[in-house]
Amino acid sequence: MAEATVSRAVARRPHVAPLHRTLRGLLSDPLGTLVGLADRAPGQVVQLNLGTIRPYLVAEPAHVQHVLRDNAANYTRAGNSMMWKSVRKLAGDGILSEGPEWESSRRRLQPHFTAKRIDAVVEDMSRAISEAVDELAEPARDGTPVDAAKEISRIICQAVIRVFFGDKIKVADGVRVVAEQDTVATALRFRLLAPFLPDVVPMPGDRAFRQAVRNIDDILLPLVRAERAHPDGGDDILAALARARDADGRELGEQRVRDDLVSMFATTTETTYVVLTWLFPLLEQLPDIAARLYDEIDRVVTPGEPISREQLEQLRYTRMVLDELIRMYPSGWLVPRTAVADDVIGDTRIRAGGTIVLSPYVTQRLARFWERADVFDPERFAPDRPRRSHRYAYYPFGGGAHQCIGQYLFQLEAPLIVATLLSRFRYRLRTPGMPNPQLAASLRPRERVLLTLTPNLRVSA
Ligand code: HEM
Repeated sequence: MAEATVSRAVARRPHVAPLHRTLRGLLSDPLGTLVGLADRAPGQVVQLNLGTIRPYLVAEPAHVQHVLRDNAANYTRAGNSMMWKSVRKLAGDGILSEGPEWESSRRRLQPHFTAKRIDAVVEDMSRAISEAVDELAEPARDGTPVDAAKEISRIICQAVIRVFFGDKIKVADGVRVVAEQDTVATALRFRLLAPFLPDVVPMPGDRAFRQAVRNIDDILLPLVRAERAHPDGGDDILAALARARDADGRELGEQRVRDDLVSMFATTTETTYVVLTWLFPLLEQLPDIAARLYDEIDRVVTPGEPISREQLEQLRYTRMVLDELIRMYPSGWLVPRTAVADDVIGDTRIRAGGTIVLSPYVTQRLARFWERADVFDPERFAPDRPRRSHRYAYYPFGGGAHQCIGQYLFQLEAPLIVATLLSRFRYRLRTPGMPNPQLAASLRPRERVLLTLTPNLRVSA
């Protein structure tokens, strides 16, 4: 796009953040450091000096658009970029990769997540969520603390396994896969911090990573084999992958089916549950917002019943809270790319092979685009508020050809989970205060979020 770029002749070198400041800051407070660097360099690309590699931090919305959309062909997930190399070891050559394999996976999988398809399953999903939330009645009665991340991931597993995986994965196995995904996401943090080290150099976390991938395969591969041996013609994702044909009419191999199954299980579960885990400590800090949220939920939801489609539409404030939640805590906080050829972003020269760090977290907290950026304020997303100054000032679901295919699903599933849970229970945090973010592939609390639930009196009255 013309305004995002200038010609190569007048392009200048990027603003380089000094090594001592970058490294010390990235080790102690990576996210705050990245936001600070971007805030201090308005309109510029900042080069992070990490010693042997110097990734470019691209935070300005117009520049993000350049990378994700306008010149996306030059910015690839293939190559040696931080994170994607590790993701490929888990998810292989499918929807989370790049090139022709990615393209065919995207064509195959996207139809499962269109608004029409999601609207058609929303009531089933609501029922599955309602049943899963019911299981919390016992710990609520006993006062036994529950782990928010574990419970939310169990609820999500129950919903997505029913709606997208035809109940072919046992919920307990789904929960085990999510736990292994967590190991993968956190074990790769060492490689995130030292992307310049080749794979042959062992790093902490490598062994745990490999073991977790094996454990995931032990659970999901037998399902792939069974489905390929005895296809049941269902419309779930596993059946669709098993009967898919490539451009030459050949079946996909076992490995390709496995890669997309693993990718889709990970994306339907992890991204959503890590975001929702932040909500509980946040609400406890913000009693006015919590009261308004409880008020809406208590007004709209029928006690003890699954939420209907009409009720879901009325949960407007709940949706505003969630929009703001993924502004401040986007689970996909890091969206790296590798530059294929030399380019110019804004007025900054980018070298071929360079790593580009895009971060919805950073852009969505830029002081020049977000007033009181560190304040949680759902009013930013009120329907009568003027639109944001730039499409890419807020991009929790990415953009361009790789734009998240689960955005609409999240927008229906997340309010269903939050409103079902909070219509039945109130909670107290066992671990007060906001947890710290954990440096991992997805943005999650480092400390456990433990809750004591009590029945919502309105329901039991
Ligand atoms: C809070 C929830 C979620 C967030 C913040 C999120 C974020 C993102 C982001 C930033 C990307 C772009 C990655 C890139 O450009 O390299 C992405 C891609 C993707 N998301 Fe999501 N996502 C969420 C939920 C989901 C859900 C529920 C699904 C389930 C279908 C999903 C499936 C995917 C897939 C398959 C891709 C890869 C698309 C492609 O490369 O063609 N996501 N997501």
